[in-house]
Amino acid sequence: MFKIEPLRSIRKTIKIPGDKSISHRALMLSSIAVGRTRIKSLLRCDDTLATLNCLKNLGLEVKEEKNGNITIKGNGLYFKKKSPVYIDACESGTTIRILSGLLVGQRFPVCLNAAPSLRRRPMSRIITPLRQMGADIKGSFFYGKSKGDSTYAPLVIQPVKTLSGIEYQMPVASAQLKSALLLAGLYAKGKTTVIEPFTSRDHTERMLRLFGADLEISGNSLSITSSGLSSPEEITIPGDFSSAAFLIVLGLITVQSSLVLKNININPSRCGLLNVLKRMGAKIEILNKNAGFEPYADIKIESSSLKATSVKADEIPLLIDEIPILCVAAAFAKGKTEIEGVKELYIKESNRVKALLDNLIPCGVEIEEINSKKNNSKIIIKGSGNFRPIDFKSCADHRIAMSMIVFALALGSSSRIDDINCIDKSFPDFIKTIRSLYLKNEDNTF
Ligand code: S3P
Repeated sequence: MFKIEPLRSIRKTIKIPGDKSISHRALMLSSIAVGRTRIKSLLRCDDTLATLNCLKNLGLEVKEEKNGNITIKGNGLYFKKKSPVYIDACESGTTIRILSGLLVGQRFPVCLNAAPSLRRRPMSRIITPLRQMGADIKGSFFYGKSKGDSTYAPLVIQPVKTLSGIEYQMPVASAQLKSALLLAGLYAKGKTTVIEPFTSRDHTERMLRLFGADLEISGNSLSITSSGLSSPEEITIPGDFSSAAFLIVLGLITVQSSLVLKNININPSRCGLLNVLKRMGAKIEILNKNAGFEPYADIKIESSSLKATSVKADEIPLLIDEIPILCVAAAFAKGKTEIEGVKELYIKESNRVKALLDNLIPCGVEIEEINSKKNNSKIIIKGSGNFRPIDFKSCADHRIAMSMIVFALALGSSSRIDDINCIDKSFPDFIKTIRSLYLKNEDNTF
């Protein structure tokens, strides 16, 4: 158990580590481009290291500098391996789903393994369309079962003579699925078109263009035609908005606080939380905006009296990873916040709706889930701000752990959390960053 002491009057400028989604993509695209790519401010966390290790096992030449920068030498679309390769995505959904799109085009068999937690997450969303393109990709039974759908990790991919472009209406707004299909499209005959039900994060599209891919975008329809990629030589990864989100909400809900977060990615397909928080009356300023293949800026936050809002289903993909921390903000807001279309939350690192209810109800938060089995499932939270500290459970989910720590930091007295190791999945510096916000540290407080 780790003790969490309340925080207040935070005044600090904080540097947030590189973006996880952009780091995965930078590693993957550099590995199939022609030329050397130097990646600066790459996020080193469990998930991105899983991608890096997979690529190394696929024979990639990688030069790592002491300062964390990395140079990757790509030889074009095809890895040089000939014999079967066994790689492990560990707990990273982004690694297994996006990498599959790149691997179905290779000329050797691959077994893509995953940790037990990832073996429980659905892979049918990528298997179905990749097979329609002609890929030979097979899944396994649900973890620990010997029958049922064989659409879970580990995945086995066999080489095929040709992949063909398809037009695919995505049943779910998933950036991982979209990215897998766009990467498979690089290896396919003809045009591959994916149509999203709602806009999801567009990091893959931006990076494909940076690497010179032949990509057309018209509204929610994206088409790619087979083409080689050429290295842009250097990529600098901006700070991760999803990691920044925990500090943003912390600054808003703790009294007398004023925080500045430096160089944060402000891609509109990623920062839906900013719009929602502004509707809630949050004092947030975007300073020193910079353009680039991904826009970034400094974000200034001040303690705010928040009011409730409603979030519709089409906004969800723009803040999919921020719903747990949004629920924390809503608990401290005046009035009833409704968040619609939360079905995808059931199949993240944990069932996040359940994890939120299990933690927040015992604290006295009025939070409920409506229609848990239906497409229009939603979360309702009546804010108040007068809560009891408890022993929080991370549910082995990094974003639940960080959200509950932020909630706990804003309480009037100390509480505890069972596990903080899972935070290494996306933000290994989180605890160090929080510690730096205390005026004085007590033993055993993180
Ligand atoms: C991600 C996409 C999202 C997000 C995940 C990272 C990505 O998943 O939740 O943390 O980097 O493409 P879905 O594609 O399942 O929505």
